[in-house]
Amino acid sequence: MTHPTFRAIAFSGSLRKGSTNTALVHLAQRVAPPELTIDIVDWVDQLPWMNPDLESDPPEIVERWWNAVRSADALIIGLPEYNATPTALAKNALDWATRPPADRAITGTAVAFLSAAGRSGGQRAQDSVSAVLGFLGATVVTEPPVRLTSVGDRFDADGNTDDPEIIDAVAAKLRAVVDALVLRSAELDD
Ligand SMILES: Cc1cc2nc3c(=O)[nH]c(=O)nc-3n(C[C@H](O)[C@H](O)[C@H](O)COP(=O)(O)O)c2cc1C
Repeated sequence: MTHPTFRAIAFSGSLRKGSTNTALVHLAQRVAPPELTIDIVDWVDQLPWMNPDLESDPPEIVERWWNAVRSADALIIGLPEYNATPTALAKNALDWATRPPADRAITGTAVAFLSAAGRSGGQRAQDSVSAVLGFLGATVVTEPPVRLTSVGDRFDADGNTDDPEIIDAVAAKLRAVVDALVLRSAELDD
């Protein structure tokens, strides 16, 4: 039986060398179901700070980001939480993805968050952007949540883990992303 295939891009909202959120993004690439390929975007830190003045003649890197988001079925984000909100890096990449207003790159994209954080597991960071992304036409795949609490010591120095709880949580989220994309394809075919 052939499966419909979908393509996601993924980025991490942390620049830290031993980042657990970057590790989750790499893990996602390894455990994705056969229907989903994931390409990692490791250059969102090169995007300029969001400035609407740049939109009339966007820098090449912004065009590259818009094209990357538009050409993907799904956007997977390793989303850390700093002071109850997404990191500035993640927020900046997301803000650019919601532009330009007449043709938002994020519209029609399935979005999924994988968070490793402190006590909250990143819930406030995820909640603070989920509703608005939905309002702007993205499909935010909220269930099952991936909100890992203080898991730094469950990854090795290379960012690998064999922890079944972490692997299963990421795999289940990706399965839900595929299910959402299959549903969307069926709706578009109607
Ligand atoms: C400035 C700062 C603020 C933080 N605020 C929160 C927070 O509000 N909630 C939380 O759960 N963790 C918080 N943390 C902990 C980070 O989420 C945690 O260190 C996480 O592992 C960072 O992601 P990374 O491993 O991908 O770099 C904060 C860390 C920093 C550096």
